[in-house]
Amino acid sequence: MIIAIDGPAGSGKSTIAKELAKKLGILYVDSGAMFRAITYSLIHNSIELSNAAVLEHLRTISVTLEIQNGSQETFLNGKNVSVEIRTKEVTSLVSLVSTLPSVREWILVQQRIVAENNDLIMDGRDIGTVVFPNATYKFFLTASLEERAKRRTLEMNQKGVDVEKVTIQQEIEKRDALDSSRSLAPLQKATDAIEIDTTLLTIEEVSSIIFTTVNKG
Ligand code: CDP
Repeated sequence: MIIAIDGPAGSGKSTIAKELAKKLGILYVDSGAMFRAITYSLIHNSIELSNAAVLEHLRTISVTLEIQNGSQETFLNGKNVSVEIRTKEVTSLVSLVSTLPSVREWILVQQRIVAENNDLIMDGRDIGTVVFPNATYKFFLTASLEERAKRRTLEMNQKGVDVEKVTIQQEIEKRDALDSSRSLAPLQKATDAIEIDTTLLTIEEVSSIIFTTVNKG
């Protein structure tokens, strides 16, 4: 079974996907973490953002996701980079990196390999459209920009990062625009995905809608 959850930043994908994976006893894969890990590596090694230079760099690195104490940790060449991939620097560059064909192709191969041996829930931008067009279930989560910025600000503040909602809102808006307008695997709802506007819903309510749909299956 493959469950695809797509949507823009702050729409609640990862929170819902994590919870659902636990309830169903299947693997959760945060595909955004892979794009972030590559972005971190490119910044860290001062790699020029051309498709050729990035392709060359991708031949030298490994990105793996592992569940440790119930949470997903991201490893770059065996080093845990779960904190580093969430910095402002990575967040502001990740959407540009995600437009590169070399990056998308590299990650696509890995995404399909995990699915060969596991039932899973994967969240991202193109999971239901490009990565797994034949996924068992597809959901597309949305929420107003204001609400998404509020959620992301709260999440950052809870992690001890002092950031203003207005700054987060601008960052999300910019990233959404790039993610939706790129020619390769843009952020868009698969025609057969169930769309859920989560603006006025709690995590439990969204979780329950998805869980009920999957259970009826
Ligand atoms: O958690 P958040 O919504 O901030 O984003 P993320 O899931 O960590 O993804 C970070 C970025 O990676 C997105 O803004 C996209 O540019 C890119 N991404 C993508 O292009 N395709 C995916 N399947 C997942 C992420």
